[in-house]
Amino acid sequence: MTELLLTEIDHVAIAVQDLEAAIAYYAETFGATVAHRERIESDGVEEALLRVADSYIQLLTPTREDSPVAKYLEKKGEGIHHVGYRVADCAVALQSVKDHGGQVIDQDPRPGSRGTTVAFVHPKGAFGTLIELVQE
Ligand code: CO
Repeated sequence: MTELLLTEIDHVAIAVQDLEAAIAYYAETFGATVAHRERIESDGVEEALLRVADSYIQLLTPTREDSPVAKYLEKKGEGIHHVGYRVADCAVALQSVKDHGGQVIDQDPRPGSRGTTVAFVHPKGAFGTLIELVQE
């Protein structure tokens, strides 16, 4: 048996075309406000994190045309892009994915937003969900 490596849902990421419109929607409809905003040049995305209890809704929009999120929007349209699971140790969780035959996008943990350490797991082999492992 594998011990439980996921400690919490860190965020549900939603790809949107218009970040300001999406922020306004969540604010006006649900009263959710932006807790953190960041442009991640290496990933070609801008994100807004809206806090919901101990987790976040992560609104994501591309900052350039060759960004993976731009390609996602082109192919699939707006909607849920990935789920971020909080883990105590990103390297340990990533190794478990590899040990169990999963496909990884990041071979090694790397810096994420908010000073986190992250690694992405390919949706192929993960039942169609892009998974992000997030270590705070
Ligand atoms: Co994410």
